[in-house]
Formats: sequence, structure tokens, C-alpha cells
Amino acid sequence: MRDLAQLATPASSETPLRGAALAAVEVVRDAYVLCEDGRITSFGPMRELGVRRRDSGGELEELDGRGLCAVPGMVDCHTHACFAGDRIDEFELRATGASYEELHAAGGGILATVRATRSAGEASLTDTVRRHRRWMRRAGTTTFEAKSGYGLDRETELASLRAIREAGGIATWLGAHAVPPEFPDADAYLDFALAEVLPQAAQLAVAADVFLEEGAFDVDQARRYLEACRAAGLALRLHGDQFTEQGAIPLAVELGARSVDHLEATGDDGIRMLAASDVVGVLLPASALFLDRPMPPARDLVDAGAAVAIATDFNPGSSFCESLPLVSSLAVTQLQLTPAQALSACTVNAAFVLGVVGDVGRIAPGYAADLVLLDAPDWRYLAYHLGGDLVATVIEGGEVAWSRTPDQSEQNPPR
Ligand code: NIG
Ligand code: FE
Repeated sequence: MRDLAQLATPASSETPLRGAALAAVEVVRDAYVLCEDGRITSFGPMRELGVRRRDSGGELEELDGRGLCAVPGMVDCHTHACFAGDRIDEFELRATGASYEELHAAGGGILATVRATRSAGEASLTDTVRRHRRWMRRAGTTTFEAKSGYGLDRETELASLRAIREAGGIATWLGAHAVPPEFPDADAYLDFALAEVLPQAAQLAVAADVFLEEGAFDVDQARRYLEACRAAGLALRLHGDQFTEQGAIPLAVELGARSVDHLEATGDDGIRMLAASDVVGVLLPASALFLDRPMPPARDLVDAGAAVAIATDFNPGSSFCESLPLVSSLAVTQLQLTPAQALSACTVNAAFVLGVVGDVGRIAPGYAADLVLLDAPDWRYLAYHLGGDLVATVIEGGEVAWSRTPDQSEQNPPR
């Protein structure tokens, strides 16, 4: 890639990024990126490209970056992209006053999607995750995580994890998402899930996740589930402090979890405890917006020194949104992160949460050649252009994975 208006990348490889390192983005104007065999070999100002080209020897395929800004391919570390059906009727009902929690308590919500997902079949689930991956890619996501959790029986949970892997995702076993109706209570369901599903789920997933919340799983049940998953070799994550504080942060710190996600209800003690740990706080502002809930205390978390990531929470009920550029806009406008902090949060820190740090999430030699070219004169348009259609080209492993047709692109005037 040559003649890029700007290239922007998190500067530091110290992970997870927090404090000054979270805000440190290196910007190169009039830039090039050189890739070989799917990896980045060098980047810098155009005036240095001649030397590098001589070094690299072989034939070069060039991509014209005029009017475009390059950022690292984005990493979505929290999605529920494996589901069947939709919740459009509930979406409409919520507009007329029904709350998300009421719909859940009445057997709708997550359990409505469980019914649809159980009857879908593995082939159709795989097609669906592939379709969702295409949506994400067009929005600039090159690495995505997806959770099971809409099967909650052995067959559908394992089919979901396989479908996610098949579609190129990093799989998380959300075996403790809700208690399915065929079990009398959460403990009876966990007896089954840990004995019958965990052994194979642990072969397919890299992490386990639990919904620790009133009406879902309590802190003792979450501990039991996570300890068993850790013993089976899985990394640990929690959906915590979404509606109420139930001890998710202390449990995450105690167990050495990778992340606690949501945090809309987190108070001062939780902020302090998370900041003093290596557990990443994953902020999901599209979910808070979609449910018209309070935003998480992001500024306080960042100021206290916590490592934060941002993600879409893409799912049919609480966040039907696959766009990390939109989430970056919300991170700046609603969470008071700077554009640089938002970029670090959906690249390096998200990669840390997924255990792929050092491989993806930065433009630096040795990293995967995953890049997004923005049709914008300044890389900060990523957050600035609210809902903007600014992803021009997505490169994965050095190859163009998606590109707008030429007539959809506009040349930005030089500044
Ligand atoms: O992250 N909070 C629990 N799980 C999902 C929502 C799932 C759904 O509504 O289908 C979340 O918001
Ligand atoms: Fe979620």
C-alpha cells in the first residue's frame, strides 16, 4: 500500500494497554505499508519506501492509498453471532413500553432465540455465522469472537461452536447464558452442562463465559461453572454488572479471568478493583444504547488505570449492531474516550482478551497483514463519522477481502 493519507496504529505493545499507553497512537502521514506472505514487514513515510523496496527484492503488487487512511483490522472481542431467527417483534414491543427484563422473565428474550436456534440445524447456523461475518468484515472487523449460548443443549451448543470456527471466528462457550425450560433450576442445568457438554466444548472453544445476573446465574453458580471450565483449559470471561452488581468483578479477579463485559452498573469499588487487576473491562455501548440503559463508567475506569476494550455485543436482542466504527463513535461521544483510546480498545486490548495479542491489532512488523482502509482524510473519522460508510477496503492476511466498487468511493480532497 502506498501514498496513504495517514496510517494510524496503537504505538505500544505493552499489554493490556492502560493509562498513557492506551492513548498512544502513532500516526504517519503520506505513508506506505509493506507486506509479505500475509505479514506486515515494514511501514513508514513514503520517502523511505524506495530503500525498503530494494531490500524486499521480489515483485511487488501495489495498492493505491491516495485519499485513504489505514488502521489495523479491527478485533471484535464480544459477539453472539451464532443465532437463528430475530427478535424484531420484541424490538417493536420494547418501543411501546415492555422492558428487556420483562420479556426475558416471560420466556421471551434469550429463550426465544434458543427455541429458534435449536430448530435451525448446523448447516444453517454455519451459513448464518458466515453471513454475519460478512457484515462485520464490511464494517472493518478482521478478527471476531462469537459465543454459543443459544443452544443450551448438548447438540446445539457444540454445533454452534463448530459453526463459529467454520466461519473463521474465535469460539467462546457461553454454556451459562440462561437456564433452559427443561431444567428445574440453575444448579440442575449446570450439573448437566458441566458433565455432558464441557468435555467437548473445551476442545472447540478457547474461553468460557457466564451471564452473572439476577434471573440468570448467581455468583456461586458462576464460580462453580468457571472453575470447572478453567480446569478444562478454557480462558474465563464474564457478563457482569449489566443490570445489577452481583460480585462479577471480585470473582473475575479471584479467578484470573480475561475480561468482565458490560459494567453498566459498576460502582466505585468495582472500578478500583478492576483497575488494580489485569482483567480487561469490555465496554459495550451499542448494547446500552439499544436497550436505553445507562452507559458504563468508562471515563472513571480509564482514569483509575483500568485496561478497557470496546466491542459490539452483536446479538438479536440487546445489540443488533455489527459495526465497530459505530461503537467507536459511541465510545467517544458517550463514554468520553478519545479517538486514540477507542482505537486501542478495539484492536490491541480486544486482541489481548482473545489471546491473540502480538498477532493482530497493530500495524507493526511481524503482525498479520490485516488492515482497514478508511475513505477519510484523517484516521479519527473512524469515530467522528457517526454511522458513516467509511470503510473502503478490508485486507486480511495481505489479500483484499472486501472492497467497495470504484463508483462507491469518493476521492477525498487533500487537506
Ligand atoms: O450480552 N446479557 C446477556 N446476553 C446478551 C444478550 C443476549 C440476548 O438478548 O439475546 C448480552 O447483552
Ligand atoms: Fe453479550
